[in-house]
Amino acid sequence: MSNKKTQSKTAIASRKKLKDPSKNPKKNKGIKRKAGAKKTAVKKTAKPRVAVRNSPIHGRGVFAVNAIAKNARIIEYTGERMSHAEADRRYGDLHDGSSHTMLFAATDKVVIDATRRGGAARWINHSCAPNCEANEEDGRVFIDAIRAIRPGQELSYDYSLVLEERHTPKLKREHPCHCGVRNCRGTLLGSKR
Ligand SMILES: C[S@@+](CC[C@H](N)C(=O)[O-])C[C@H]1O[C@@H](n2cnc3c(N)ncnc32)[C@H](O)[C@@H]1O
Ligand SMILES: [Zn+2]
Repeated sequence: MSNKKTQSKTAIASRKKLKDPSKNPKKNKGIKRKAGAKKTAVKKTAKPRVAVRNSPIHGRGVFAVNAIAKNARIIEYTGERMSHAEADRRYGDLHDGSSHTMLFAATDKVVIDATRRGGAARWINHSCAPNCEANEEDGRVFIDAIRAIRPGQELSYDYSLVLEERHTPKLKREHPCHCGVRNCRGTLLGSKR
């Protein structure tokens, strides 16, 4: 997705009306919330450790330039911060027939839309066996390494996309995962809680 699905290279070819337009922009919810966790912003002076390049998984991806240690805070997911209602207003009336999204549901109140003013983290792809995870702290979302990452390896985290509607087999097929790992679950959709 992107500026009404036009800015991204992976812009959407087909769109269809949602049954309930107000409720279904795809928002990445693959996030861990750490109550009272120490605030650790990405240091502005830190050496760049990642680069955006073409990915074998999908479109562009983010790759380690240097070795990244397990538990290292790599990058913040940045973009326009808005309410769910505003994200719904922007994207809820479009259903693109693809899985593409740059919306991140940081909290129950805040969505980060990386479509127009997003940082490099928006290019990080999903994997069913990820080397990173997204952690929320005070409404901000950080991508942290969950294992050591070698230079050249692609960064990934589990998107666990959640849609309002039931995650039917058809809906899962409409959001296919191409991460390529042995235990790929075949879809970007996560389990509904
Ligand atoms: C935030 S973008 C990530 C950057 C994306 N590769 C691009 O070039 O636009 C998220 C979108 O990338 C695609 N994507 C990410 N990981 C994927 C995967 N494992 N399999 C298939 N598509 C994926 C999906 O369309 C997803 O909604
Ligand atoms: Zn997968």
